[in-house]
Amino acid sequence: MTLTLLLAFALWVGCLPCSGGTGGPSEVPGQPRVQCRASRYPVAVDCSWTLPPAPNSTRATSFIATYRLGVAVPGESLPCLQQTPEATSCTIADLQLFSMVPYVLNVTAVHPGGTSCSFLSFVVEHIIKPDPPEGVRLCPVPGQQLQVQWQPPQSWPFPDIFSLKYWIRYKRHGATRFRQVGPIEATSFTLRAVRPHARYCIQVAAQDLTDYGEPSDWSLPGTTPFTLGKYWGVPSTPKEGLGSDSTPC
Ligand SMILES: *[C@@H]1O[C@H](CO)[C@@H](O)[C@H](O)[C@H]1NC(C)=O
Ligand SMILES: *[C@@H]1O[C@H](CO)[C@@H](O)[C@H](O)[C@H]1NC(C)=O
Repeated sequence: MTLTLLLAFALWVGCLPCSGGTGGPSEVPGQPRVQCRASRYPVAVDCSWTLPPAPNSTRATSFIATYRLGVAVPGESLPCLQQTPEATSCTIADLQLFSMVPYVLNVTAVHPGGTSCSFLSFVVEHIIKPDPPEGVRLCPVPGQQLQVQWQPPQSWPFPDIFSLKYWIRYKRHGATRFRQVGPIEATSFTLRAVRPHARYCIQVAAQDLTDYGEPSDWSLPGTTPFTLGKYWGVPSTPKEGLGSDSTPC
């Protein structure tokens, strides 16, 4: 509570010198809308922002992105690394994991008509969101079962140390609702009693095993290289076979 108040006060005070400009209010850029995500925990946090379009703006806006750990120590801002000053994203590496105080990112938009800034405070573990699992494949196995296999997202650097858990959701083509199973720690799952001529939409999502942050978006639907009916010895009709393309969900 005290920290939140202190933070709010510091941000309020900190933002005053950023607003205002020399060229009239219409030329001052709006505040950047900033979001940060740790999709490659614990290596880096990636932040990006958008700026509402300013009327009559012909010249490019550049940005200064800096961060601090906590708000109490003034003058210790470090650059959040941008590819170019015009880039609308930046990266914080060398993370302090499990920090008791949040990071505070300051994104200042610099425009010929003035500057405007936004702050975002976060704790790294709270903004973990892996990218979706990759290479989701469906393999028929005897007994009208369907094995789903996938890989952790390649952007997740150390899956052996910072394990992920997974959810699987599936529905028959034409069904309205998904069924969901999980979380499981394995990178495969077997669906039982699969209908031979049905097409299935199957997707997988990943989350940090220790429940930090939020789950990934759903992966692309899994694909299988041949029709299930054929594999199981059931005559298949071409229309109903599970094609090699991903099935729209
Ligand atoms: C935010 O960054 C801008 C540009 O570097 C700087 O002028 C401003 O003082 C910073 N604000 C705070 C509160 O650190
Ligand atoms: C944009 O520029 C035109 C011409 O310079 C001016 O008439 C108009 O008032 C400006 N609009 C705003 C929102 O500043």
